[in-house]
Amino acid sequence: MIREVLKMGDPRLLLQARPLEQFDTPELHTLLADMRDTMAHLSGAGLAAPQIGVDLQVVIFGVEKNERYPQAEEVPDTVLINPVLTPLSDELEEDWEGCLSVPGLRGMVPRHVSLRYRGFDEKGKRIDRSVSGFHARVVQHECDHLLGILYPMRIRDFSKFGFIQALFPGEEVLDE
Ligand code: NI
Repeated sequence: MIREVLKMGDPRLLLQARPLEQFDTPELHTLLADMRDTMAHLSGAGLAAPQIGVDLQVVIFGVEKNERYPQAEEVPDTVLINPVLTPLSDELEEDWEGCLSVPGLRGMVPRHVSLRYRGFDEKGKRIDRSVSGFHARVVQHECDHLLGILYPMRIRDFSKFGFIQALFPGEEVLDE
């Protein structure tokens, strides 16, 4: 079921999410189905449970190779629960981000270039990956939602924050 995505300003987006305690339950599978439906409906690259008002440490993300956006790196479809992120270097890289909770806007956000992430899938199976680039950026963005952090809170140069249509006139840019 497609759910309403909370918008920046809603205090529920600023909460620290609780760890999930029971895996592979009907409630979890329903939550994930709703998250997938909502993300697909809005053509998002990721979604965190708090964005649909569910206060749990559950995120999904994934980016398919897309001929319209050949520069976008592929990210495997992933369910990540109770994540722990460890940067693999101090190196930061700035790039554009958007968010389904901040519609119509883009900002230039510094993120760790590479990191290790650990957690669990919906069955409780361990996930342990070391990634870099766009994959690492997506993970950091989604897991920030579990800490009550939205990407504008990470922006350092506010001259690189604005409306998509004003920042990229004439370009075809995914809405989110
Ligand atoms: Ni987001």
